[in-house]
Amino acid sequence: MMRIYLIGYMGSGKSTLGKKLAKYAGLQFVDMDHYLEERNYKTIPQIFAEEGEAEFRKKERKALEELSEFSDVVIATGGGAPCFFDNVHLMNRTGKTIYLNIDPGILADRLMESKTERPLIKGKSKKELIHFIDETLKKRNEFYSQAHYQITDPDTGLDEILKMIERD
Ligand code: S3P
Repeated sequence: MMRIYLIGYMGSGKSTLGKKLAKYAGLQFVDMDHYLEERNYKTIPQIFAEEGEAEFRKKERKALEELSEFSDVVIATGGGAPCFFDNVHLMNRTGKTIYLNIDPGILADRLMESKTERPLIKGKSKKELIHFIDETLKKRNEFYSQAHYQITDPDTGLDEILKMIERD
């Protein structure tokens, strides 16, 4: 049985890599943000606007508890997911965690171009975004760094990733 969690900042490429990795390894792919939206009949921007971030984090925890029982799956988690409650421990206990540790400059470029609506960074200029990424990464690194594995090169091969996981 294989359960892989991809963690990392918004724009780090968790969903893109997750889809490819799942296909390559013959596993199911689940995007946690989409799962959460379907379970709650609301989009993430709606949840933030109507219920606030604290309520979103509770729903995110609930989604994670459910997903931690899925088998043979690659799960692309929300960027903040490992940083609340004991979520990172839950992931480490129930699967293999991989942190996509991508350069903040690349994250800022990708997020400026992205069409996905993300309440935490909505309306920010490039300068404000860079500042926000720096500040949040300072806090989030403590959680991200607890992952079992890290990938810093976005072009790391799928076979290399699987070998890294299967080695231990
Ligand atoms: C968030 C990241 C988003 C989404 C929500 C909050 C965060 O997911 O869960 O907007 O706190 O970093 P992505 O990392 O898929 O953008």
